[in-house]
Amino acid sequence: KKVLFVSPELADLIKVGGLGDVSASLPRAMNADHDVRVLIPGYRQVMESGHAIRDVGSVPGHAALPPARIGCMTLPDGLVVYVLMCPELYDRDGTPYGDSQGRDWQDNHIRFARLGLAAAEIAAGTACLSWCPEVVHANDWPAALTPAYMSWRGQTTPTVFTIHNLAYQGLCSLECSPELGLPSSACGHQGMEFYGRLSFLKAGLVYSDHVTTVSENYAREITTTEFGCGLEGMLQFKVQLNQLSGIPNGIDDSWDSLNDPHLVQGFEAHDWEGKRANTRHVEQMFGLEQSDGPLFAVVSRLVQQKGIDMTLEIADAIVAEGGRIAIIGRGEEHLEEAVRELARRHPGKVGANVGFNEADARCMFAGSDFLLMPSRFEPCGLSQMYAQRFGSLPIARATGGLADTIEDGVSGFLFQEPTSESYLAAVRRAMAVFRNRELLNAMRAHAMASPLYWKQSVEPYAALYRKLLAAQRSGGK
Ligand code: ADP
Ligand code: GLC
Repeated sequence: KKVLFVSPELADLIKVGGLGDVSASLPRAMNADHDVRVLIPGYRQVMESGHAIRDVGSVPGHAALPPARIGCMTLPDGLVVYVLMCPELYDRDGTPYGDSQGRDWQDNHIRFARLGLAAAEIAAGTACLSWCPEVVHANDWPAALTPAYMSWRGQTTPTVFTIHNLAYQGLCSLECSPELGLPSSACGHQGMEFYGRLSFLKAGLVYSDHVTTVSENYAREITTTEFGCGLEGMLQFKVQLNQLSGIPNGIDDSWDSLNDPHLVQGFEAHDWEGKRANTRHVEQMFGLEQSDGPLFAVVSRLVQQKGIDMTLEIADAIVAEGGRIAIIGRGEEHLEEAVRELARRHPGKVGANVGFNEADARCMFAGSDFLLMPSRFEPCGLSQMYAQRFGSLPIARATGGLADTIEDGVSGFLFQEPTSESYLAAVRRAMAVFRNRELLNAMRAHAMASPLYWKQSVEPYAALYRKLLAAQRSGGK
């Protein structure tokens, strides 16, 4: 099947969080049997990545969306990436979503409507490409106008919309409607109107043929008021129509503790000396004292979702009880400052690196004993799976994909309530296991053997594409 995968991130070129990883690994995993190609905006980092880009097509302007060209980049392993080239929207310093101070770009509605409409034009065959998808798969709010523009234009190519995080909705004022060239129906309750504003995410839900999210547990949770972000009613309706499902993320083969070139020493389960060499390296990276106590790692976006504030609350207790903490993260300014301050307060015991560095993150998964991940909600979570592969036991709240991928007391530790008391109790259980070498090593070996590869997710996506194509053929669309 020919599939256009529309995403605002692709780890090979630009990544903020797990969506970048998924966009890089799911299409590749599917490409054994399919022809999945990725469409992303031509951000400065993409244009300057050094990969050759051939000009293969163009899309006209629409309302305030400028015309753009479409480039084609073939990555070294053969993955085909279409690049939406529109320098006035994308040639900037910063992340896909905002400037280097973390402020959202003011014209994000235009930047990402441009992405959605370009995808719709590629699907319609009007973008002059020699390739046309049979299924379009859009991801998160930045790509959510793809099925919407397709629907408004009467296109019948089946569409899948995947929610990686319901909390980011891409809201803008109703007054932006003319800039986006929306039909009037879009601005009503049956369309993308949401409490007096326009919601890109809601458009993805309303206008796609099928909605997926990235774990089975999160698929259930988002139909409740606690996790539904105001969209739970609509999501419950999708369940009734059999149009909402959870397909868990996987991780790719690069997460191989024996052969990862970023590690100072490769190791397998039971080679705990090999793992220890990586611990020594992480201690040096963060200026931590060597000790026989446990090393806790935080590898995370520094945002409220991730419960960083709870880690800050229990950090003194962890240090007092003999633990050390290494933190790498980037995000909200007050949390960045708070982790720096924590490290200043505990020299040699807590180290913080405010920034984003993939190689360092890999060393930390390999070198740490435990990964702290007290997320308030977590659609799937990849960091806990990476940690498990590298023999670091995640300590996490039993929510979303964390509850699906961690077996309490077997491949990590789970706690229920989003409170520092409940969290600290789990950390103390982990510390007790740390003192019992036999149990610790058994848990590590178990975690490293967790079967978390894409192989399991490819078939459910393939089955979904088949089902939608069959419905389209039988006139169901
Ligand atoms: P989310 O997408 O919500 O951020 P995930 O756990 O799905 O959460 O994915 C996060 C990804 O980003 C993982 O690959 C993780 O290793 C990586 N990551 C997060 N913060 C950093 C950082 N500061 N440096 C390097 N990698 C990071
Ligand atoms: C989001 C979620 C995370 C998920 C990732 C990839 O960023 O916060 O839980 O793993 O997307 O699907």
